[in-house]
Amino acid sequence: MKTMVITGASSGVGRATALRFASEGYTVCALARNANKLNALAMETTGKISPYQIDVSDSKEVERGFARILEDHGKIDVLVNNAGVTAGGQPIDNAMIDRIIDTNLKGTLYCTFAALPSMRKNGGGHIVNVASIAGVNIAEKGDDGLYIASKHGIVAHSEALGRLVRHEGILVTSLCPGGIDTPLWNNENPYPHDKSKMIQPEEVADIIAYILAQPKRTLFKNVIFVPVVEPG
Ligand SMILES: NC(=O)c1ccc[n+]([C@@H]2O[C@H](COP(=O)([O-])OP(=O)(O)OC[C@H]3O[C@@H](n4cnc5c(N)ncnc54)[C@H](OP(=O)(O)O)[C@@H]3O)[C@@H](O)[C@H]2O)c1
Repeated sequence: MKTMVITGASSGVGRATALRFASEGYTVCALARNANKLNALAMETTGKISPYQIDVSDSKEVERGFARILEDHGKIDVLVNNAGVTAGGQPIDNAMIDRIIDTNLKGTLYCTFAALPSMRKNGGGHIVNVASIAGVNIAEKGDDGLYIASKHGIVAHSEALGRLVRHEGILVTSLCPGGIDTPLWNNENPYPHDKSKMIQPEEVADIIAYILAQPKRTLFKNVIFVPVVEPG
């Protein structure tokens, strides 16, 4: 049985992906800060999703959390680094810079380097990093560049690490989606948008499943996908 660790599993893309892979027979380790939401998610499946309350921006919590995951499940086959936040239109100060870089970029790095030893020991694995279209494009309209910097960092790291580890059977893919209909937009992003035009979180889970289903000689390094019609 394969074990998937997915961060940001209490909501949106992470939640849909956890449910999708639990239904395919994976053991899913669901990480986020909100324990109530994680427990509710675990209740939806019969023991296939294990909740782990972990703040990915805290290196010590990640270290301890991944040690627990390995004690409980023995190995990590797939890591989906998906936890992410935006400034949601709030002013940028040093606290906001820390919040976004620590969660989006450093969280991805902490979890990746916590999972790699297990993948190396097993002789393989797949790391899927959920970046954003903001990881490859720079918006034409005014943007402070903070979220963009965090997501460009993820794409660059994915490419570099992927080159290093693929000879060990460890594949690294970055995803660069455009607008997805998730609570990120309700909670954090005040910009007007038409949900009916947005990508659905289950469709992102389908794309991850397709990437993971490829024969091990084929690697999707960076996958860019956007709504056909701009939602806002
Ligand atoms: N929605 C879009 O249009 C869009 C487009 C491109 C890329 N993305 C990216 O897709 C990913 C998923 O976002 P989403 O749209 O599904 O948003 P969402 O519904 O708001 O989910 C974000 C998830 O990240 C978790 N999270 C945030 N900070 C965390 C932390 N410090 N430690 C652990 N978990 C944390 C949240 O859980 P807790 O609050 O419980 O911790 C939540 O489960 C993000 O990386 C986002 O940047 C989204």
